[in-house]
Amino acid sequence: MCGIIGYIGSQKVLPVLIEGLKKLEYRGYDSAGIAVAGRRHVRLCRVKGKISDLEKKLNQESLDGNYGLGHTRWATHGRPSEENAHPHQDCTGSFVVVHNGIIENYLSLKKELINEGHAFQTETDTEVIAHLVEKYFEENLGEAVQRAIQDLKGAFSLAVLSPLDWGKIVIAKMGPPAVVGINEGEYFISSDINPLLSHTRNIVFLEDQEMAVVTKEGFQFFDFEGKAVEKKVEQLSWTPLMIEKRGFKHFMLKEIYEQPQVVRDTISGRFSLESKKLCLDELGLSPQKLKHFSRVVILACGTSYHAGLVGKYFIESLSGIPTDIEYASEYRYRDFILDRNSLVLVISQSGETADTLAALREIKKQKCASLAVTNVPKSSIAREAQGVLLTHAGPEIGVAATKTFSAQLTALALTALYLAQVKGKLKEKDLLTFFQQLQRIPHLMESILGKAKSIQELAQRYHAYSHFLYLGRWVSFPVALEGALKLKEISYIHAEGYPSGEMKHGPIALIDEKMPSMVIIPRDRVYEKMMSNISEIKTRVGCVLAVASEDDREILSNVDEVIPVPSVHPLFTPFLTTLPLQLFAYYIAAIRGVDIDQPRNLAKSVTVE
Ligand code: M6R
Repeated sequence: MCGIIGYIGSQKVLPVLIEGLKKLEYRGYDSAGIAVAGRRHVRLCRVKGKISDLEKKLNQESLDGNYGLGHTRWATHGRPSEENAHPHQDCTGSFVVVHNGIIENYLSLKKELINEGHAFQTETDTEVIAHLVEKYFEENLGEAVQRAIQDLKGAFSLAVLSPLDWGKIVIAKMGPPAVVGINEGEYFISSDINPLLSHTRNIVFLEDQEMAVVTKEGFQFFDFEGKAVEKKVEQLSWTPLMIEKRGFKHFMLKEIYEQPQVVRDTISGRFSLESKKLCLDELGLSPQKLKHFSRVVILACGTSYHAGLVGKYFIESLSGIPTDIEYASEYRYRDFILDRNSLVLVISQSGETADTLAALREIKKQKCASLAVTNVPKSSIAREAQGVLLTHAGPEIGVAATKTFSAQLTALALTALYLAQVKGKLKEKDLLTFFQQLQRIPHLMESILGKAKSIQELAQRYHAYSHFLYLGRWVSFPVALEGALKLKEISYIHAEGYPSGEMKHGPIALIDEKMPSMVIIPRDRVYEKMMSNISEIKTRVGCVLAVASEDDREILSNVDEVIPVPSVHPLFTPFLTTLPLQLFAYYIAAIRGVDIDQPRNLAKSVTVE
């Protein structure tokens, strides 16, 4: 949710912090601030608004130094405002804190601290941390932070500095991610690796209940009891180029266009043409073990949940294993029955979503096997799941997930085929046929992207509507949900995704000339049923836009608009039908002039519950 950056070294700190914050801005963007540490005091600059607003304000002030902290906020406690923007300070202004997460017991701590004479300036939960560090400080900042965090309940990754113990940044993690980037004579603190890519590839990932004291000379890691911890320096494979727009107007558009390559990269190296078998040894679960699972349970949130829903159809159709899917946020509070024969798949592009991570931890407590499908190699979910299947989508910066959805579908199709292989459910030739269908997908996606202009024109005709229904059946039902989510999150148009068979049970009452329906109707086993649903809408003067197979002539006379997609095996149509819906949402948002990469109220990585 929020993004934290810190630097200590010999570069001028301000550009490092600002550039870093820009790369973290997708995590939250309602207010921002920085602190630059001087020998005697710390200078702060904070604004309500985006990093560009912070930059404007900084142009009027000169903050010089080689050591400081920055923060971009997604508000949880306290409305977005300059006062509530981080960094926060104690009563004396000597201790400066940036924080990502939620301090659940902040009200009782605040009460106690006020009784002890501390004066609060903000409505945030974070400010208690600054006062606690002030309270416990004797002469060592690391020790004061260590004592302060004993009092905190909730989730946090935080960084603290003080002129009273100059030349140190102290960080601690309990929940949201925190990494340290290492370079010759300089160190970086960050919520994720993106800001570090242009500086270093050497990264240390903090685990929960770990803290670090970082100086210009080096770093030391401890657990929350103060015991030294040995950490491994990891080498990153992502490059700085991956987080540039490369000529596209928005990251979202660039990421939509990257999808063919992302599918290719996610397939790559996972099928042996020699043995005609899938090789997913990386899963960390042996074929012998996988063979014995009689049930799969998928847990995820948002777009990853929609990918999981498609994955359920893949797994059931290809491997014959009964598959359940649940929102990770709901799973945690249900009396969900799992047994040792269940394989749990957690799906999360970021690998940091708090609900999905918490669900994974529940599963581990129940000693069930877990497999993570994630895009971020060293993320918390990747590190904590028993096995990992990485999606090779590269960093996704647009808040609306696009390329990671396609990468997840690819990983789930591979998983389904692999389960079919280990269970002996598919003959060698059928496995090969499915794999070849998967291999065709990038090329077919390219042909859809080549016709983006017609979708842009369609957006021009429909951008003024206030409501949309998205309808699909079987594998197209999750596509309807995903299409509706894309439209609402980036254009702020109300859109509802529905299984079209449910129309007559209620939503059909909404149909009139002001409510267009986007119907996903490739040629598949439910085609005729979908045609009947279309006719029910048309009878009620509803306007129908159809994502349909390009060889379908029948559809032309039955709907108002057709978005053609190439034919592929019916099970794999979501790879192709989702693309035009992403483009449709993108172009409508562009016409409406909203902030496509950073839609209001959202954050890319939801690290609070
Ligand atoms: O990182 P995750 O895949 O776990 O994120 C899950 C959701 O927060 C995410 O998909 C969200 O719904 C996106 N805004 C969708 O575009």
